[in-house]
Amino acid sequence: MYIIRGGETLYGKIRVQGSKNSSLPILAASILNGRKNTIRDVPKIKDIDVMTEILSYLGADIVRDNNLMVVDSGNVNCSDVPEHLMREMRSSIVLMGALLGRFGKAKVSYPGGCEIGPRPIDLHLKGLAQMGVEFSEGHGFIYAKTDKLRGADIHLDFPSVGATENIMLAGVLAQGTTIIRNVAKEPEIVDLQNFLNRMGAKIKGAGTDTIKVEGCKIDDLKQVEDYTIIPDRIAAGTYLVAAAITNGHIWLTNVIGEHVEPILAKLREMGCMINCSNNVIELYVDKPLKSLDSLRTLPYPGFPTDMQAPMMALLSTVEGTSILVETVFENRFKHAQELRRMGANISINGNTAIIKGVDKLTGAMVEAKDLRAGAALIIAALAAEGETHVEGVCHIERGYENIEDNLTALGAEIVKKY
Ligand code: EPU
Repeated sequence: MYIIRGGETLYGKIRVQGSKNSSLPILAASILNGRKNTIRDVPKIKDIDVMTEILSYLGADIVRDNNLMVVDSGNVNCSDVPEHLMREMRSSIVLMGALLGRFGKAKVSYPGGCEIGPRPIDLHLKGLAQMGVEFSEGHGFIYAKTDKLRGADIHLDFPSVGATENIMLAGVLAQGTTIIRNVAKEPEIVDLQNFLNRMGAKIKGAGTDTIKVEGCKIDDLKQVEDYTIIPDRIAAGTYLVAAAITNGHIWLTNVIGEHVEPILAKLREMGCMINCSNNVIELYVDKPLKSLDSLRTLPYPGFPTDMQAPMMALLSTVEGTSILVETVFENRFKHAQELRRMGANISINGNTAIIKGVDKLTGAMVEAKDLRAGAALIIAALAAEGETHVEGVCHIERGYENIEDNLTALGAEIVKKY
């Protein structure tokens, strides 16, 4: 657990980690070329450990040195993702597109639901079926198979991040052109396109509503010499909110201002002072923060669902009533009941949270049930009176690299106890 003594004002400078949600599909993409790919700024987090284990199991030779990863997929010869590893990380479903591209088949276990909702994969399957993939299911596994992966014109019913990535990955080695409409526009999709194009793929349109992938042959693909993952916009947002709740003053390096703008806009509206220049963001608070009449989570460039829980913690401490609507995931409010244990006044009605700011939060024993809920509890604890014990460190370590060291460097009192 993390033990946090609240009340310290955060001050100082930290560097933001590389993006988790870029690294995962990019590591999956490294299966496609059957060559050696050198990737920098891969965060040292649990989800990447799991992805590394899966790739090794499939036959990849991997060298990991701090944040550098060299993935040689020349010896990958297996297309079955082992169930126990797939269960540890839902997003390993993104391997399906890459395995279908390289081998024309894949066996993955059904990802099932998770703490933040049922999370179906129907859009992945529908898109891949249009490309000529046949699916069968049994004993909790999905068997995907195709004699010839072919380009198709696919319209996503919802701009799903994972479905966009899976179909892009499958399109790289498909015969003909794949057009994907109503795609996710997240910066991580652009990062995946950039990585694949470095490999020799022909993809255009990431960051807009439509992506076009011109299929090529594996022999056309080359090794990726040196690719650096983009900064993690959610980790950046998490540290900014942590600073805001303590009335702190911090500088973040390794951030892309445009990627965090949806978060900055809301923090500014609350009264935070923010300056951005040359990949550095400065945030300080010099007056009481204001509540938000309306905060809705939306696909990018809307306010990210992954920042909903941290913002709920912050809004709990701000005078006035805030309304927060979660539109992306069905069941992403489990942190509310833990925040209530710390004295927060939050009521939930369907996908809407009504948060009445309280004078102070108080330390308590709380449990993180998912990654971003864990971040929210740490943030609340930083401002709470007394000591908070946050259980569920394993969820937090899935996505945040050295969070306790970073917060300690900013002046927080946080220790991890086993
Ligand atoms: N959805 C469907 N059918 C599908 C796919 C998605 O109904 O076939 C629904 C989901 O159930 C959900 C919504 O669409 O309600 C959005 O899902 P999406 O596919 O966009 O999300 P994802 O690919 O599963 C990624 C991130 C999440 C992030 C979401 C939304 C990765 C590895 N994960 O998930 O990150 O919240 O996009 O931005 O990229 C996190 O980092 O903590 C995290 C959960």
